[in-house]
Amino acid sequence: MAGNITFTMIKPDAVKAGHIGGILAQINEAGFRIVAMKLTKLSAEKAGEFYAVHKERPFYGELVEFMSSGSIVAAVLEKDNAVEDFRTLIGATNPAEAAEGTIRAKYATSIGENAVHGSDSDENAQIEASFHFSVTEMFK
Ligand code: CMP
Repeated sequence: MAGNITFTMIKPDAVKAGHIGGILAQINEAGFRIVAMKLTKLSAEKAGEFYAVHKERPFYGELVEFMSSGSIVAAVLEKDNAVEDFRTLIGATNPAEAAEGTIRAKYATSIGENAVHGSDSDENAQIEASFHFSVTEMFK
């Protein structure tokens, strides 16, 4: 689909380690346009709500604790084929399996602390973008 969007978060591990600039540069170089962006911090309640789909997974508690442990950068990105191309750019969820040069291969330390989030479908990209941004905060 032309000009569609994906949603990303630079997670607390990557923010703490000073990788915001490096990650955003790689996102821009790959041809994504930033439609919305903010530095923010999720409460445990908000992190739990965002990842509610994983509620029954054994790692849910750890995930919520980690995602509310520090600042994140939330952003909406636009590009042709945004969801799929962004997932290619960030690499596999587990950094040990992420292709060389991908954002997770470069910046992630573990499957739980994996530097960035990327939406897994066009439908979830819309839901996740709306979770963090109002319509007037998105500049398409
Ligand atoms: P993300 O792409 O943000 O979507 C769900 C997150 O759950 C994922 O990245 C990981 O950070 C986390 N996750 C997935 N599998 C595991 C696991 N086995 N142990 C801990 N965290 C996980």
